[in-house]
Amino acid sequence: MGLLQKRIVELYNEFLESPWPIPEDPSLRKLPSLHDAIISTIQQTKFSEKEWKKYGFRVVRGNSADVFKGCFCKEAASTLKKAIELGSGAFGTVHKSRIPSCVKGIPKEVEWVAIKMEQVGAYFYESQLPENLRTHLTVIQEAVQAGLTPVLYDTFICIDETDASTIVKVMEYVDGVRLGDWLPSASKTNISKAKQILTSKVEALGKMGILHNDLHNQNIMVVLTPKGAVKDVAIIDSDLASYAQNTEVKRVSGIFRNSGNYQIAYAILQKLIQEKSIVL
Ligand SMILES: Nc1ncnc2c1ncn2[C@@H]1O[C@H](COP(=O)(O)OP(=O)(O)OP(=O)(O)O)[C@@H](O)[C@H]1O
Ligand SMILES: [Mg+2]
Repeated sequence: MGLLQKRIVELYNEFLESPWPIPEDPSLRKLPSLHDAIISTIQQTKFSEKEWKKYGFRVVRGNSADVFKGCFCKEAASTLKKAIELGSGAFGTVHKSRIPSCVKGIPKEVEWVAIKMEQVGAYFYESQLPENLRTHLTVIQEAVQAGLTPVLYDTFICIDETDASTIVKVMEYVDGVRLGDWLPSASKTNISKAKQILTSKVEALGKMGILHNDLHNQNIMVVLTPKGAVKDVAIIDSDLASYAQNTEVKRVSGIFRNSGNYQIAYAILQKLIQEKSIVL
């Protein structure tokens, strides 16, 4: 890594630790190519295998041609070929799948799993730092133990040949409909039943000191009986779950940190100009 690149990474780490929001000079927006160069430099500071392992993650090597299949063993290819996409968000996708042969720890009676794969690290969201991902997983496991969220059977990090990291979560598949899709056609009785189950789960999480932090009607699923009565309500997508205590302390800086790396890149640019590390 060259000197300038080193300085960019150094500043990036400093800015991550500094109080937010970071002041930025809007006139630098006229320098998009420099800005992009800085983003691509900080994107190269991906987390290493060592870093993931430090936080107790299992690491496998995959390939970027098809990260979804590449993260699993070769024998899993035929299973994964038949996987059905359930949804996709900003960072990755969720598939319904039969059980890939290299995934362990799944009870015999289970036929389907939900596999969520998200690229992590590349966008520098605070919630994606290895230590924070570890905390989210601990919180999720606690909620699972209490029977309040779907089981997380297995989780590991897949690093491809470009050193991009993907977190893979193999979860209990919830055979239900998203609350938002179900509500418009639901009866009053069913809505009230769903509300009661949901309230009791959220209350129980609250008593454990756990906040979901992303509870909305696409992250709640209603499980119905064949006749359409409410059987259960499942709270999914606990990726941002945290202990209430931690959140209170971190809330203020956390909100701004989640604004991503664009602002940081401008702040770095500003600093490099000030210290004459680059000359325009
Ligand atoms: N365990 C599961 N069982 C069944 N379906 C699931 C499960 N997890 C997710 N899904 C489906 O996939 C969709 C997307 O999943 P999820 O909400 O976890 O990711 P996301 O919204 O893309 O992520 P994010 O909100 O972090 O961007 C859900 O709305 C739901 O329909
Ligand atoms: Mg979601």
